[in-house]
Amino acid sequence: MSPRHESLGPEENPSVGAGRQGGRPAGGGLPDGRRAVRRGSAASPAPLPGSDRHRPVDPVADPVEAAEEARLRPRRLKDFVGQGQIKEHLGIVLEAARRRGQAVDHLLFAGPPGLGKTTMAGIVAGEMGVSIRITSGPALVRGGDLAAILNDLRPGDVLFIDEIHRLNRAVEEILYPAMEDFQLDIVIGKGPTARTLRLDLPRFTLVGATTRTGLVTGPLRDRFGLVARLDYYAEDELETIVHRAARIFSVPIDQGGAAEIASRSRGTPRIANRLLRRVRDFVEVRGEGAVTREAASAGLDLFGVDRIGLDKVDRAILDALCRRFGGRPVGLSTLAVAVGEEPDTVEDAYEPFLLQRGLLQRTARGRVATPAAWAHLGLEAPTGPEVPPSLFG
Ligand SMILES: Nc1ncnc2c1ncn2[C@@H]1O[C@H](COP(=O)(O)OP(=O)(O)OP(=O)(O)O)[C@@H](O)[C@H]1O
Ligand SMILES: [Mg+2]
Repeated sequence: MSPRHESLGPEENPSVGAGRQGGRPAGGGLPDGRRAVRRGSAASPAPLPGSDRHRPVDPVADPVEAAEEARLRPRRLKDFVGQGQIKEHLGIVLEAARRRGQAVDHLLFAGPPGLGKTTMAGIVAGEMGVSIRITSGPALVRGGDLAAILNDLRPGDVLFIDEIHRLNRAVEEILYPAMEDFQLDIVIGKGPTARTLRLDLPRFTLVGATTRTGLVTGPLRDRFGLVARLDYYAEDELETIVHRAARIFSVPIDQGGAAEIASRSRGTPRIANRLLRRVRDFVEVRGEGAVTREAASAGLDLFGVDRIGLDKVDRAILDALCRRFGGRPVGLSTLAVAVGEEPDTVEDAYEPFLLQRGLLQRTARGRVATPAAWAHLGLEAPTGPEVPPSLFG
């Protein structure tokens, strides 16, 4: 099976993955309506070279998890936790489309991995009772790949293009008239005898997702009716998400257990759900009953996830900056060697969260640990001349 593109019908039975098939050729979807494993489909970014695939706090889904996530995805807007403003805007857009009896405007969801972009796309289809066709930027190699999918859509259908910033130019050019005028230009033949055939498409909804808004071209971005940027989640929202997942997995958990997992989840629902699974394993092996704060804390300590969600490499980076280099600015490659990782891995996989948490700063002279990092490691920050004044300003 090559799940480069999949097609899922309007969902009726929430117990079967993303819903039943529509009444037409399955187009690569699984026969029993389960969502295909997406990592094999190039729909998720490839793991970073040299990165630890088993990192408990990796925001990118691993293949096993990608299959399991279908079970965890909320299907209705009301079940989607957090992102209040986006939910409100989307609720209005959906209701307006419903009243007009028209397809929903094209939507672009942007934001870091694991925050719910794919989930939102499924919700749009679920709320409108239409089929969703799933593909991704890198899977659409030739214009013909996209043309075939577009030609197969029915009125109101959702076409979900993950990693839309990775569409190639030729494919993007086909998308413009399709989004704007619901028309498909097909070139027949080659050379001087080539001619263009214009086909009418049904009104459909394009839902795009991107982790790199900056890489979505202006003309493409302008063709979306709504661009929604998903933000990291607050701890109480993650707590609700953990409780919900625990219910689905039939894992007994109390308030303290959910709070402990939430506080180590780096603002990311995917990580929260993964940490819950690790803690569930831990509790089962230890023969303890429910996930309590103590059990969650002991389990996550064991897996190397500390109380603010840093793993051992995160801590090694901060430790190198503070202890080994004594607070002086350090170049990326030196830092990478110090922690035994590739510079790209340090920059792309580790630094974003450390920057976001205010534990690390990038300065013109190199990386420096902030006072918050010193405090987190239980160290006293130096106040000598080596440290840039901006650190304490
Ligand atoms: N608001 C939410 N409420 C409940 N669960 C959520 C929410 N957002 C995300 N999740 C859960 O987190 C997991 C990851 O979400 P999703 O796959 O939609 O993220 P994504 O933004 O598409 O990530 P990626 O960029 O890697 O494709 C899903 O299994 C889903 O169950
Ligand atoms: Mg996704």
